[in-house]
Amino acid sequence: EEATAKRKDAHLDLCATGDVEPLGNSTLLEDVRLVHCAMPELSVDEVDLSTEFLGKTLRYPLLITGMTGGTERAGVVNRDLALLAERHGLAFGVGSQRAMAENPQAAESFQVRRVAPTVPLLGNIGLYQAVRMGVDGVRRLADAIGADGMALHLNAGQELTQPEGDRDFRGGYQIVEQLVRAFGARLLVKETGCGIGPDVARRLVELGVRNLDVSGLGGTSWVRVEQLRAEGVQAQVGAEFSNWGIPTAAAIASVRRAVGSGTRLVASGGLRTGLDAAKVIALGADVAGMALPLFRAQQAGGVEGAEKALAVILASLRQAFVLTGSASCADLQRKPRIIGGQLKDWLATL
Ligand code: FNR
Repeated sequence: EEATAKRKDAHLDLCATGDVEPLGNSTLLEDVRLVHCAMPELSVDEVDLSTEFLGKTLRYPLLITGMTGGTERAGVVNRDLALLAERHGLAFGVGSQRAMAENPQAAESFQVRRVAPTVPLLGNIGLYQAVRMGVDGVRRLADAIGADGMALHLNAGQELTQPEGDRDFRGGYQIVEQLVRAFGARLLVKETGCGIGPDVARRLVELGVRNLDVSGLGGTSWVRVEQLRAEGVQAQVGAEFSNWGIPTAAAIASVRRAVGSGTRLVASGGLRTGLDAAKVIALGADVAGMALPLFRAQQAGGVEGAEKALAVILASLRQAFVLTGSASCADLQRKPRIIGGQLKDWLATL
């Protein structure tokens, strides 16, 4: 448990100031252009950005994706960002609850209901951690924080770069099947920056998974974070794979085609602006997810700093709707968009 807590704080330090993102246009969101509408015939206030998520209604189609918990510092991050989610009608996820399964004292840092009584709240656990603790253990984690849903994270790339990480990735779908039985529509399966592609998405949906976060390449790279901590062979192999993954734009567009409209899709991984969020919604996401930009704003300036960063994102998202002439998310998804560059190649193949 000591080791888990130490690792978590090392991760936070690296993410706060380290070089944890790939260089250049890795999300491939730059290969997407939305089309300007010179006569929007809309008022800014009338644009309806609301959407359903985990049985609740969001005012904005945004999720602050799971990052942290387990230490005092992590508790402050969770409460600051959950408070913003509550204030603006977004969804919020805590980071991996492994720390609180190992040490009950760590539970406090995951408790956000006092500041965020109504947000759609996601718990979080790794796929193979879920195997070790069993379905009842996972249910206890969700209940302990009053979560509306449980995020199950996939992170094979990170594990392989982590000295103490997992090496055996068999039996994953079997666990998912058990968790679907326990959680139903409250289960969300997510990647952590390498992306879920259409084949995996289809198989998960066939097993009954109703919510996916594709969490693609282009933002925080956990291979990169672990590579910065690793030594020897793992450091070198990690460096080689630090740009590995399915770009977020390719993941969301291909997964939406593969699964149809019954599945709630979150797109995260490298979204940095409201316009990025509008683009993933245009490509088929129900909800846009962000982690690093809000974490960094919080680390630099507390709740106020994060609030300022969020205000820019929300204004830009709204502006993208108005300037495409879209009165709602469904409306934006019917508008034309231009897809070029490498994204076109990805979508011709996936
Ligand atoms: C993460 N992410 C993450 N995901 C998860 O499922 N469990 C976790 O514990 C964490 N921890 C975590 C910590 C920090 C500091 C960051 C920045 C991210 C991954 C996160 O939810 C998301 O999928 C990716 O980070 C991609 O989004 P961004 O960061 O590029 O916006």
